[in-house]
Amino acid sequence: MKKRIAIIGSTGSIGTQAIDILTDYPQHFQIKGLATYQNIDLLKEQINKVLADQVVVINEERAKELNKNLLPNNISLGGGKEALLDLVTREDIDMVLMALVGTAGLEPTIAALKAGKIVALANKEVMVAGGQIVNQLTQEFGSSIIPVDSEHSAIFQAIQGCRDTANEVNKLILTASGGPFRGYGRERLRKVTREDALRHPNWEMGNKITIDSATLMNKGLEVIEAKWLFNMDVDKIEVLVHPQSIIHSMVQFIDGSVIAQMGVPDMRLPILYAFTYPYRLRTELKPLDLVEISKLTFEEPDWDNFPCLGFAFEAMRMGGTMPVVLNAANEVAVDLFLRGRLAFKDIPIIIERAMGSHNIIKNPKLSDILDVDRVIRDMYKKDGVL
Ligand SMILES: NC(=O)c1ccc[n+]([C@@H]2O[C@H](COP(=O)([O-])OP(=O)(O)OC[C@H]3O[C@@H](n4cnc5c(N)ncnc54)[C@H](OP(=O)(O)O)[C@@H]3O)[C@@H](O)[C@H]2O)c1
Repeated sequence: MKKRIAIIGSTGSIGTQAIDILTDYPQHFQIKGLATYQNIDLLKEQINKVLADQVVVINEERAKELNKNLLPNNISLGGGKEALLDLVTREDIDMVLMALVGTAGLEPTIAALKAGKIVALANKEVMVAGGQIVNQLTQEFGSSIIPVDSEHSAIFQAIQGCRDTANEVNKLILTASGGPFRGYGRERLRKVTREDALRHPNWEMGNKITIDSATLMNKGLEVIEAKWLFNMDVDKIEVLVHPQSIIHSMVQFIDGSVIAQMGVPDMRLPILYAFTYPYRLRTELKPLDLVEISKLTFEEPDWDNFPCLGFAFEAMRMGGTMPVVLNAANEVAVDLFLRGRLAFKDIPIIIERAMGSHNIIKNPKLSDILDVDRVIRDMYKKDGVL
């Protein structure tokens, strides 16, 4: 039977790549719903390509601009959060790809899990802000999450066949490309521009994650995501810089054996695996040529010049709402940087300040998480920075 899918964040880097690869297999997948924030022009093209029957534009003003009369007859069009929650909980949807950017994905992910859906999760900020709650709900409602992020997909693949991950996994080793500024010292980092930061050496991604990769915050967020996805103590997660991005991550077991997952750096691979798991499909993607690559190298991360990575470990060890603060302050700082209102070197300063002024709430409820997230964003609005 075909898997019936909703793609949330269809116009982003992950969403467009998902449509690209999933539409190659019409016998296996049917994309029934699409949701986006505001890019209605691309959404219109996608509607014609995938023949979805429900679309949602989260930004209600933009939803009004999408003229229903210009859409095919059978399409239902919705605007705003409620319409999004309606889409992800639809009875005739089996899997939901969560590919929004930021904590905007938290509530729809929770709604999909409560409705018993399988969530293919790209939107890492969901686990960073709400990992504990998301895990509780997944258990309670018998739903499941399959990672899409290449590192977590690699770990997920490496532990297939391991019967007792709690006792047999020694550590998870997340690989990082090191981003465009690998090897830069403090002085050089003071001068980097938005354009420099958006030039990632190995991956084509959305703007926010590309900046996160340049600060190494992306790896920090992934450490927190891995902690929750694999129920692993944060001190059993290690980060290793691997500039070629061929090994997507590794698992070291207690007998000393290491299983690594390799592949060309192409997100269509982990996206497809999330939808075919536990099976695989043949693809037309470029196969890995290790002779051509010839050398795989590894380095320690530069903790001093890229402090965001350390902040993420710190936030996770502190626990409670501290990762929410880390994430919200980072979203604010990256947004300011992308709008030319903050220097690259000041991104960590914003995050450190926000973490320093926060009183942690232990075992937060969803309402606490949403409140803390809002308070951090408002703090910068009040300061007149935003
Ligand atoms: N790109 C990658 O290769 C990659 C790899 C691993 C993990 N991820 C993770 O996957 C998620 C998506 O990344 P991406 O690179 O695909 O991001 P992206 O290209 O920036 O697009 C993300 C989607 O989010 C929507 N969006 C933007 N602002 C929003 C808001 N305020 N509220 C709700 N939705 C909003 C966008 O809609 P509009 O287009 O309409 O604005 C778009 O559909 C992120 O969490 C990222 O960390 C990405």
